[in-house]
Amino acid sequence: MKPDLRVKNKVFDFRNPTVLPSGFYGDKYKEMQEIYDSGAGAITLKSIGPKERKSHPFPFIVKLEHGTLNAVGLPTPGHKNMEDFWENMNKRNFPLIASIYGTNTKEFIEVAEFIAGKKPEFIELNISCPNVDNFGMLFSCDSKIAGEITEKVKNVVGKIPVLPKLTPQANDIGKIAKACEEAGANAITAINSVGPGMKINLKTKKPVLSFKKGGYTGAAIKPIAVRCVYDIYKEIEIPILGMGGISNGEDAVELIMAGASAVGIGTVLYARGKTCFNEITKEIEDWMNQNNVSKLNEIIGKAHD
Ligand SMILES: Cc1cc2nc3c(=O)[nH]c(=O)nc-3n(C[C@H](O)[C@H](O)[C@H](O)COP(=O)(O)O)c2cc1C
Repeated sequence: MKPDLRVKNKVFDFRNPTVLPSGFYGDKYKEMQEIYDSGAGAITLKSIGPKERKSHPFPFIVKLEHGTLNAVGLPTPGHKNMEDFWENMNKRNFPLIASIYGTNTKEFIEVAEFIAGKKPEFIELNISCPNVDNFGMLFSCDSKIAGEITEKVKNVVGKIPVLPKLTPQANDIGKIAKACEEAGANAITAINSVGPGMKINLKTKKPVLSFKKGGYTGAAIKPIAVRCVYDIYKEIEIPILGMGGISNGEDAVELIMAGASAVGIGTVLYARGKTCFNEITKEIEDWMNQNNVSKLNEIIGKAHD
């Protein structure tokens, strides 16, 4: 019998577990629809912030041997300046995770309330970006702040499920996840980029990125993502959208065994292209066939048994 790859729990209802994470094609309707049509189970928007913000100057991304460093810098038109975008988005037929950020709790509330009016299926809280100064990842290093932002956002978004996105840099990521759950989070997304890291050009003797440092993503961070998802799963009952370094179906199965119900497919898109959602879903299916697993639920968190 064909294995069942549908993700269905109290929070998620996706046709398969592969999700486009925030920051990859997540700002144009046409591309997002194309990615869904080519096989993704759900789509996340590029993080939307409170005020227009430009990207850091070029170069803001550099491909390294085992991963990618980026300091795009959370560019956004500002939540109120995207009316055309939302008009298009009303045509979508895919589950949409709207990622938002603020530089303080008040801004998170303001953006969340506005975006909730656009009726995305989920709101993800980017409290974990490593490549901006003075905010970003700092919020999810502190369980009190992570909980406070989660609770206040929950108060203004009605029934829309909220997913705080966590940094692997926290001392105890399980504790942060627990604080978010207690504050009303419906699911947890983990992990955001690792770092920041740095690449120096030996010829110019200077950092390659204009921002000098950047978040590290791609294959090299997978063991960190697996450990983080494992630690989070131990502490909470709500589902986990896991991500970090997934390159193929077996990597996805590993993250699912650590505790993820669905998995983000990010940096590998640069190498495998948009069709990889379909391919990775097929690779998960092949693994399930070879291992007599008929439903994804049978292996979620299996590494904890
Ligand atoms: C170029 C780039 C831009 C990103 N932008 C965002 C963003 O706007 N918001 C966010 O929450 N995460 C952002 N991320 C992090 C990813 O969503 C994801 O958490 C991370 O890349 C780990 O997954 P991966 O190893 O499969 O890429 C970005 C990552 C990259 C490489």
